[in-house]
Amino acid sequence: MEKKLAAALNEQINHELFSAYLYLSMAAWSETRNLPGFAHWLSLQAKEEVGHAMKIFGFLVDRGERVVLDAIKKPETDFESPRDVFARTLEHEKKVTALINRLYDLSGKVNDQAAAIFLQWFVTEQVEEEKNASSILETLKMLKPDSSAIFMLDHQLAKRE
Ligand code: FEO
Repeated sequence: MEKKLAAALNEQINHELFSAYLYLSMAAWSETRNLPGFAHWLSLQAKEEVGHAMKIFGFLVDRGERVVLDAIKKPETDFESPRDVFARTLEHEKKVTALINRLYDLSGKVNDQAAAIFLQWFVTEQVEEEKNASSILETLKMLKPDSSAIFMLDHQLAKRE
């Protein structure tokens, strides 16, 4: 594999693990606000992000490339409200989408068809990731902070499987 592409895929493992760390941090914050449903949803999201990192890990290994892990940056730990959490989630996912698109473009530039096909899954996944964050954010925008409706939404988020 082209060195530049292998390095960028290694970096993406770090971005995905940082995403997991960020959502876990948001889950921890939600627990302190007595919002176990939000915490559950965010913890599952963190697990998904580890899954994304592992997919790339496996792909690099299958291609005979070396995986070299870097330090994971400290995530934010304080949030203003559930709405703030999901505004930041959406903002973060948009950044990840840009990174994935850049990786996909790079795989084309270096003529790595296998990588391009592999990355297509992530391109599609990002549509889902942005949609999920955006739909929860839009609901939160309609609810008064600290209203009982927030707790009803919490109940709903607790059902994520
Ligand atoms: Fe791995 Fe949320 O993108």
